[in-house]
Amino acid sequence: MNAVLPRSVKSFNTFSSKVVALVLSEEGAYLLDQTLLPLKVNYVLVNSSQDMASAIQTMRVRGAPAIGIAAAYGVVLACRESLALQETIGQTLSRVGHALKMLAETRPTAVNLFWALNRMKDCLNRVKTQALFTQPVLLEALTEEALAIHQEDIEACYAIGQLGSTLVKKTGAGILTHCNAGALATGGYGTALGVVRAAFAKDPTLRVYADETRPRQQGARLTTWELLEDGIPTTLVTDGMSGSLMQSGAIDMVIVGADRIAANGDVANKIGTYNLAIVAKAHNIPFYVAAPCSTMDVSLDSGQDIPIEYRDNAEIGVLEGVSICHPDTAFYNPGFDITPARYITGIITEKAILKAPFCLR
Ligand code: MRU
Repeated sequence: MNAVLPRSVKSFNTFSSKVVALVLSEEGAYLLDQTLLPLKVNYVLVNSSQDMASAIQTMRVRGAPAIGIAAAYGVVLACRESLALQETIGQTLSRVGHALKMLAETRPTAVNLFWALNRMKDCLNRVKTQALFTQPVLLEALTEEALAIHQEDIEACYAIGQLGSTLVKKTGAGILTHCNAGALATGGYGTALGVVRAAFAKDPTLRVYADETRPRQQGARLTTWELLEDGIPTTLVTDGMSGSLMQSGAIDMVIVGADRIAANGDVANKIGTYNLAIVAKAHNIPFYVAAPCSTMDVSLDSGQDIPIEYRDNAEIGVLEGVSICHPDTAFYNPGFDITPARYITGIITEKAILKAPFCLR
């Protein structure tokens, strides 16, 4: 169902950003459909865990922290569905259990998805052991937990922004970012773009460069839109321009987000991040990763262990519905790459700015 975000739907305080990617309401979860931006600003109303799983898979909602929050809301929707159908307690538990599994199968790389689902699972297990366990009690607990995940993420992003902005020392600094690690990709405010927002508040002469981010164009379609909506001037460049841009002296620092950070500081992020890190190193330009602690996966020794999502070949071979290559063309389309820790100057979290060498365990 397509919808505009009703005025009655209260979203969180997103620290002066106008951009709201998702909100839980009594009718369901409203998602700003990111597949339509920037041509259409349209909220879809998602009413079931099944539809939430599909919205995550098709990237109507995307970005590591936002995927985690959306999945948590998906679990709440499963519980609501069960209550609406007047199911037994056993049926409710099985429906919620099924939703947890289904939502975990949507996208493999962003660890925030599994982190949020584990919090929801722990919440379910806690409530199950209570003497006064009823379905309304479970629904209330799951809703509170999902809302807490959302609220904590906004606060983490704001803290990342404040901390990260202390790294932007030069007046009129040039910052290059990749993909979209903004309000659209989080509960609100953003990680890499949280740093941009906080730095821009101190110095409006700051210059932001956004990589277009082939093949899904998150930089071109989403980052330019969300920054300009908040009045932050942004220059769009193609991915292949980073070398020439850095050579020109326009860039003082690179800041990107992350989908998963291994214990040794290796980072999985949108495909093309690794190239950017190498080019930044070659030009002696600091390369920062901004991410909340929920993006860390200290169970993994290194980036080699991070599962990488491979997406449909059509993302590369088809443009605006038109096939752009020979029908026998072979494709390679990983959605993410691994940037080794040795290329990363620092990781900006909500708690501290971590400097290399990293040991996150
Ligand atoms: O495929 P996407 O658009 O979900 O990928 C998003 C990214 O790679 C972001 O940089 C990352 O999730 C960090 S979002 C704060």
